[in-house]
Amino acid sequence: MCGIVGYIGNNDSKEILLKGLEKLEYRGYDSAGIAVLNEAGVHLFKEKGRIADLRTIVDEKVTATVGIGHTRWATHGKPSKVNAHPHQSASERFTIVHNGVIENYEQLKAEYLEHVTLKSDTDTEIIVQLVEKFVNDGYGVQEAFQQTLKALKGSYALALLDRENSDVIYVAKNKSPLLIGLGDSFNVVASDAMAMLQVTKEFLELMDQEMVLVTRDDVKIFNLDGKLIERMPFIAELDASDIEKGTYPHYMLKEIDEQPFVIRKIVQEYQNDNGELVIDPTIVEALNEADRLYIIACGTSYHAGMIGKNLIERLAKIPTEVHVSSEFSYNMPLLSEKPLFIFISQSGETADSRAVLVQVKEMGHQALTITNVPGSTLSREADYTLLLHAGPEIAVASTKAYTAQVAVLSILAEVTARSKGLALDVDLPHELGIVASAMEELCDARDEFEQIASDYLAFARNSFFIGRGLDYAVCLEGALKLKEISYIQAEGFAGGELKHGPIALIEEGTPVFALATQENVNLPIRGNVKEVAARGANTCIFSMKGREMDGDRFILPEVHELLTPLISVVPMQFIAYYAALHRGCDVDKPRNLAKSVTVE
Ligand code: AGP
Repeated sequence: MCGIVGYIGNNDSKEILLKGLEKLEYRGYDSAGIAVLNEAGVHLFKEKGRIADLRTIVDEKVTATVGIGHTRWATHGKPSKVNAHPHQSASERFTIVHNGVIENYEQLKAEYLEHVTLKSDTDTEIIVQLVEKFVNDGYGVQEAFQQTLKALKGSYALALLDRENSDVIYVAKNKSPLLIGLGDSFNVVASDAMAMLQVTKEFLELMDQEMVLVTRDDVKIFNLDGKLIERMPFIAELDASDIEKGTYPHYMLKEIDEQPFVIRKIVQEYQNDNGELVIDPTIVEALNEADRLYIIACGTSYHAGMIGKNLIERLAKIPTEVHVSSEFSYNMPLLSEKPLFIFISQSGETADSRAVLVQVKEMGHQALTITNVPGSTLSREADYTLLLHAGPEIAVASTKAYTAQVAVLSILAEVTARSKGLALDVDLPHELGIVASAMEELCDARDEFEQIASDYLAFARNSFFIGRGLDYAVCLEGALKLKEISYIQAEGFAGGELKHGPIALIEEGTPVFALATQENVNLPIRGNVKEVAARGANTCIFSMKGREMDGDRFILPEVHELLTPLISVVPMQFIAYYAALHRGCDVDKPRNLAKSVTVE
């Protein structure tokens, strides 16, 4: 979602800001802009569309050693040049970039800005107009900024320039992510470390309701009462090469290919010297003490949670529920006596999930976050964290984070089961090794999946994914992958549900992908395939070695039945990738979507 960068130092800021914004492109955006400040004043460049479009309008001749930049994902007001950030106050003295949603912006407008003519439809403009209003009322800029922050309700990460003072960037954060990067005679501001790895690896974390004055040589953090806060920096454990595409045409393809490596890495990270899988005993204890687990997640992470529920119940025998975060926060079910909450989130920043975390912490419950991003909001605010070790995932469509989530959940289930002395029929490190090799085989078979995408989806307007049990959860993920990047309508259904409604949608040639990897439902799902085929569907069955039957289009290599989701999803990812590619879609940055969904 929206991304913020800022630079204050002794070099020209334009290229640093633009490169930083390019590194934030993966978050999803529809317009972008930068504002730089020099002796002549503020120079503002903004454009609807891509950073490449913005580059064409940035005046090369302007040089300035301080500036801020933004990628916008529209919330208030349509994507347009006018609504793109940065926004300016009426006199153009103040310039702001903002990520988040100001919930009381209409109220603030009515209360303080009745006579100000707003230039955009954004909630953001209210903030910058409010700073100017308080300065006009006689406050110093820092106090005006502080007053403004106190008046805001909602989420914000923001950076503000004052035309009258090129020695400071005013920064603040509440609920939306923001970091300060530290350098020698320069400092930077960024929504995530990746944006500024080009200039530093040393960062300062910001907490909610903090205000920061960033100068060339200093960073001062205050709370909203003006109290100075000391904070130690941390080193971002990221390598610039981790976030490059290398020779790959798209991040998504690179990330699909990285999955065998990620599975092996996870096993290594969670294995002790005796080759046993281990998890922090306090986490295992928390699971064992809970009478029920509540998995909370969105999108792909929710689909991984569905698999997690199955694994935890089957191996560790703890009743587990899975909930979509945005539903749970407004419609909380009756909770058990001693619940433990498990948040699954690649980014660790998803606002819908965080809203639930805040609620359940207020209720005094314990929470575990499973995330790819150490130090992310959901990780910081939960009692425990398990990391995915998947490396940065840049493509909006999640691939390796999903398989990493399933793998870590399988380890959590296995270690918990063992701690309870339950008999297990799975040697998990060994079986995950088999999964990694099977994934490699599937990556080598990509041409076959490209052919399937072309055979079934070249002219498709809609499509279905059907399965039962674990396969059903993978079908939901397969359908999500396809719809989000190829824009072909795709729905996942439990095979048995078809005849209760969805089968009415089947027409001559409708593509139906079926997964048949589960022994206990092999025959029923095949019955469901026959039902749709009889009504004209173009069916494509993915089965598994040992369960194959005549007519199956692809036979997956055999892995332990509990771990089939780790491999059956791979063909789904490739099919979605090639279908999108053949349609000329922007695979890594699909329309309307953001990688890290930081607004509710
Ligand atoms: C998946 O391809 C999507 N990008 C999306 O569904 C994503 O999984 C969801 O927004 C949750 O994100 P999180 O894992 O970072 O919380």
